[in-house]
Amino acid sequence: MKPIKLALAGCGGIAGAHVNALAELWENGIRPFRIVAVCDVVKERAGDAAAQIAQFQKNNKKPAVFTDLDKLLAADVEAVDICTLHSEHHTLATRCLAAGKHVHIEKPLAITMRAGRQIMDAAVDAQRVLAVGENYRRSPAERATNQALRQGRIGRPRTFYWHDVGEAMGKWGWRNFKRAAGAGWTLDGGVHFADLFLYQLGTRAHQVTALTRLYEPYRYDDPARRQGAWQVDVEDAAMALIQFDDEVVVQWTWQGSAPGQGFNKRVLYGSEGCMDWESGLWLRDGTHVERETLVEEYMQGLAAAEKERLFPGGVTNPIAQELNDFAAAVRLGTVPEVDGEMGFRALALCLALFESSWFGRPVSLQEIERCETEGYQAEINRALGIV
Ligand SMILES: NC(=O)c1ccc[n+]([C@@H]2O[C@H](COP(=O)([O-])OP(=O)(O)OC[C@H]3O[C@@H](n4cnc5c(N)ncnc54)[C@H](O)[C@@H]3O)[C@@H](O)[C@H]2O)c1
Repeated sequence: MKPIKLALAGCGGIAGAHVNALAELWENGIRPFRIVAVCDVVKERAGDAAAQIAQFQKNNKKPAVFTDLDKLLAADVEAVDICTLHSEHHTLATRCLAAGKHVHIEKPLAITMRAGRQIMDAAVDAQRVLAVGENYRRSPAERATNQALRQGRIGRPRTFYWHDVGEAMGKWGWRNFKRAAGAGWTLDGGVHFADLFLYQLGTRAHQVTALTRLYEPYRYDDPARRQGAWQVDVEDAAMALIQFDDEVVVQWTWQGSAPGQGFNKRVLYGSEGCMDWESGLWLRDGTHVERETLVEEYMQGLAAAEKERLFPGGVTNPIAQELNDFAAAVRLGTVPEVDGEMGFRALALCLALFESSWFGRPVSLQEIERCETEGYQAEINRALGIV
């Protein structure tokens, strides 16, 4: 396969993980990309990424360094991997697609449904691949869980409890602000969980009833002493009931403003038993299979071709897998496992929580996906000129 000329846009935290993933693929003989350019509004970050890439891409030139996307788009680049903060996703992605580049974009697809729709339309207009970076579902543990569920080991899924409760009062950069991040952890981490609900249940969600709250309006440089404060405007608690097809109900809680004793519990109950994300499979008759055992069984049972497709060159790093999957879509015409549509659905599930809370009523996923219900999102759309 001829290497794809790839550029990286946004060279912060997650971009470092992408560079490491590309290096791991490269070192294991999987070389679908040649990284030809990097771009960040902070030149030094782009320069650092270029230097790191040059270390493993030994026989190729060091990637060109840009601070301006338009200049990057004028260069000889076929695909762009977008790793910027959320509010830049739609502006960069639509420009890349309009310039005829294939796009791999970090989650969430966009900051609002309308912005997400713009990106999807741009991909269709340009006839280019759009893939969303969704790494969680690709871990061997999630793959093994998925196989056990598809085999019917817990029977018919009924109720899914996903609770993460604790306290986090430290500042977190742009993630503390609605216009930059779209929302707090309910979207940032939550979009991974939404994707997992969709992936593991294998059905569609149709209705969400939720409340979101901002209990603690400040975050601190020093949370213990409550010093060095700034005011934030994203939620620090969300509680939702999500109705999926086949009468499955997901109860999802996240709270970052719960002092004292926190807790985490993630369990899917079915008609014959349950899958606990920590301790594994438990059946009514007392059978217990540890999660590690499920993973071992899964990995050992994989046919060679499937193993190579999912874990190319034996690489189990989920970000390496998603990038390799994107490369196959660009060169071979396959559909990425998490394409724009799948990313859009996970985004809708998260934003439905905020719209339900905003309007004080259950909302359907249909009205959210059709951009008919935009109370919470209206301010972001207006501020970012998304029409
Ligand atoms: N998949 C995962 O597990 C995972 C983990 C962390 C972050 N992320 C996602 O990665 C994305 C980035 O998060 P991060 O933690 O790396 O943020 P970050 O703040 O560390 O990095 C963002 C970078 O984008 C640059 N940037 C901003 N505007 C730009 C523009 N217009 N053009 C080019 N560069 C620009 C910034 O200068 C910064 O270097 C987000 O979408 C986030 O949700 C995903």
